[in-house]
Amino acid sequence: MQNTSIDKDWWRGAVIYQIYPRSYQDSNGDGIGDLNGITQRLPYVASLGVDAIWISPFFTSPMNDFGYDVSNYCDVDPMFGTLAEFDALIAKAHELGIKVMIDLVLSHTSDLHPWFKESRSSADNDKADWYVWADAKPDGTPPNNWLSIFGGSAWEWDTGRQKYYLHNFLTSQPDLNFHNMDVQQALLDVTRFWLERGVDGFRLDTINFYVHSQSLKDNPALPPEKRSFNTTTDVNPYAFQSHLYDKSQPENLEFLKKFRAVLDEYPAATAVGEVGDEERGLEIVADYTSGGDKVHMCYGFDFLGPRVPDPKFVHDVFSDLHEAAPDSWPCWAFSNHDVVRYATRWPVNPDLQDAANHMRIALLLSMRGSVCLYQGEELGLEEADVAFEDLQDPYGIRFWPKFKGRDGCRTPMVWDETKPQAGFSEGTPWLPVADSHKPKSVAQMEARNGSLLHHYRQMLAFRKQHVALIKGDLLFVNTEGNVLTFMRELGEDRVFCAFNLVGEEQEVAFDSLNIEPLEGCDFGAQIKEGKLRLPAYGAFFGALK
Ligand code: BGC
Ligand code: MG
Repeated sequence: MQNTSIDKDWWRGAVIYQIYPRSYQDSNGDGIGDLNGITQRLPYVASLGVDAIWISPFFTSPMNDFGYDVSNYCDVDPMFGTLAEFDALIAKAHELGIKVMIDLVLSHTSDLHPWFKESRSSADNDKADWYVWADAKPDGTPPNNWLSIFGGSAWEWDTGRQKYYLHNFLTSQPDLNFHNMDVQQALLDVTRFWLERGVDGFRLDTINFYVHSQSLKDNPALPPEKRSFNTTTDVNPYAFQSHLYDKSQPENLEFLKKFRAVLDEYPAATAVGEVGDEERGLEIVADYTSGGDKVHMCYGFDFLGPRVPDPKFVHDVFSDLHEAAPDSWPCWAFSNHDVVRYATRWPVNPDLQDAANHMRIALLLSMRGSVCLYQGEELGLEEADVAFEDLQDPYGIRFWPKFKGRDGCRTPMVWDETKPQAGFSEGTPWLPVADSHKPKSVAQMEARNGSLLHHYRQMLAFRKQHVALIKGDLLFVNTEGNVLTFMRELGEDRVFCAFNLVGEEQEVAFDSLNIEPLEGCDFGAQIKEGKLRLPAYGAFFGALK
């Protein structure tokens, strides 16, 4: 029987704290974070005031892509713990009022998954068609020009089957064949397995990579002027193609509907899909979130790139999304385990770094959408400098030095700088703890009045008091110049939000007769003679009188 007190809509406007399990807290001294470590730290997570956690993959895996290469979907890798420890984690999280979302990597498995081992073993086994196999061209080269994001052809030759198999990522991450209904069913069973264990939702890895075109046609070239601007575009030829055939195929909608039907059997399960398509991202978001019968949200990439948010950019992101997918509910992040931390990616004058961090979390928590915060963001951590010899990420090793990979945002959390490895582990950590992070440890930040950590808590508490900030519509007021202003509105609750997105004081015209400052978050703004004066990277929240 369903519990009617459960809020089915909890995900709309939820704040989700992303935990990269390898780097959160090690509890057994092997230098690798684990589930028990997360459980120990849940009171801290709860103290932030977030609604949910998203845990990056902890399933059985050879860890070539650090868990995004799964060899058993229904078990915990021994390095991270056991199923019983996962049950304990969920129980503790729920006791603290935190929902638990896990990261399902359904597009591909590890090459060590029993399904792939069987599939590659012969041409006529039960799983022969569970992966994407294709003949070589007569000259022995791969079936087409598709590329792997992690470098080289997307096809790898298998000597046993005398065929190529498709992999959009590492050669050890073969792509499942979603044209085979047994594959779909097996993945739906995996989904159910975790729902039965009590998870509240999923982050769906590379959701638009599930289905490829059976035509196996070559992707056309994408002219340089059409390539989007991000950290890897210049160094990775994957960006030189228009990905018409290797991903984002319409048949995926049918699978997503089946997936949603499984979720809807449970009281309040949710899903946020990661859509990676530089060219057609918005169309795909529209398709995947329309009609209430596919995923609840898609994860927005707009603020994960190098472009520093300015009023026009923020406006354009929202108006493009509104035009393409008016009903969709976005999920925003400024940082995650795949991109350079934003304190580094969006550089500011060091004297103003704190102010910029304060303003940016206020902005992130005020935009229409749900929010993912990435561990360490609340401490203002910058990207760690990881030496080539310490690199772990195969993507970084492949494209070094122009692209250093993702290790710099994956180094261990810093809990207490007076303890070995800043409290992360009693052993040698899998990636070094960054010395530059130590002064920003949780212990330091807790002890410092007005620190970013306190500010995060304050902003999260402030957001909780204003339902318009959580679930309201967004109406832009001013998007010219350096100050962004908008209203968030839900019924009677209307919050006026202003952000100075640059490092100099700004003044904007302001209707002080109608707007009064809201208590609960002070950014030093002043109202004088019909003007709102915002300090460098200042913000202001007001209520309509
Ligand atoms: C994940 C990455 C991972 C890739 C392949 C992504 O988008 O976020 O960390 O390497 O999918 O699974
Ligand atoms: Mg450990």
